[in-house]
Amino acid sequence: MVAATIARSIATPARAPFIALDGVAKTYEARFGGQVQAVETVSFEIGHGEFVSIVGPSGCGKTTLLKMIGGLLEPSAGKITYQGLAPGRKKPQLGIVFQDAVLLPWRTVLQNVCLPIEVMRKDRAEGEALARRLIELVGLKGFEDKYPTELSGGMQQRASIARALVSDPAILLMDEPFGALDALTREYMAQELQRIWSSAAKTVLFITHSITEAVFLSDRVVVMTARPSRVAEIIPIDLPRPRDLQMTTSEVFGRQVAHIRSLLSATGEL
Ligand SMILES: Nc1ncnc2c1ncn2[C@@H]1O[C@H](COP(=O)(O)OP(=O)(O)O)[C@@H](O)[C@H]1O
Ligand SMILES: [Mg+2]
Repeated sequence: MVAATIARSIATPARAPFIALDGVAKTYEARFGGQVQAVETVSFEIGHGEFVSIVGPSGCGKTTLLKMIGGLLEPSAGKITYQGLAPGRKKPQLGIVFQDAVLLPWRTVLQNVCLPIEVMRKDRAEGEALARRLIELVGLKGFEDKYPTELSGGMQQRASIARALVSDPAILLMDEPFGALDALTREYMAQELQRIWSSAAKTVLFITHSITEAVFLSDRVVVMTARPSRVAEIIPIDLPRPRDLQMTTSEVFGRQVAHIRSLLSATGEL
């Protein structure tokens, strides 16, 4: 909480945004000829320590956008700037969490979380100590030596969040990380993510299908149109933090959810 407040208070307008998308577009070459224009032109910024969500119709290009921000895919047009640095300069360390936890089944929780440390050839003892602290942070203390099949879906996602944090990324990119969970676990995980975000003081870009989840978690929600996608509107969420589930029944909360729903209906999706 304190760390996040500090992280946000230093996000002064004078400082370059953490990530800036300027006219970013993506056209895929289809397998049997022709082209699929996934993202038309998208421009927005993500501030230091900010929690930004993207909501939009299925197939509108959200994953495409996340992959471009993560450097896994080149934009067809436009540019993405990291911390005001010229394009092509070294990207900040990124942590990515996908919808499926994608843990290695033959590795324990601790061994899975330590994987990036091995890949980056960092000091093992230091890395393991950090991994153990992160496992505790995501609420998996005591499960270090369990295998993924011994964990529930929510616990597997916690392990993959810890693994994404172990490389100390400046930003966490999350692509529908709770999409495969049941409704109750999902609500619980949203609260947990808020706690983790506050104490780890990270910048987060979070893609979700759930409007309430987006409003509950975010500083700002980017609403996308149907494919080829553009930004329909960027909505600041001014609810106080820390937020609890009680807040989701408030009038302000309901109004913001209704507004986003109406934007999505206008794209013909709901
Ligand atoms: N590698 C690819 N080649 C061709 N088309 C793709 C590829 N990846 C995604 N698409 C198409 O681009 C559009 C956007 O996909 P995606 O970014 O996955 O959307 P979302 O995450 O919003 O559901 C979809 O129509 C999808 O079929
Ligand atoms: Mg997707």
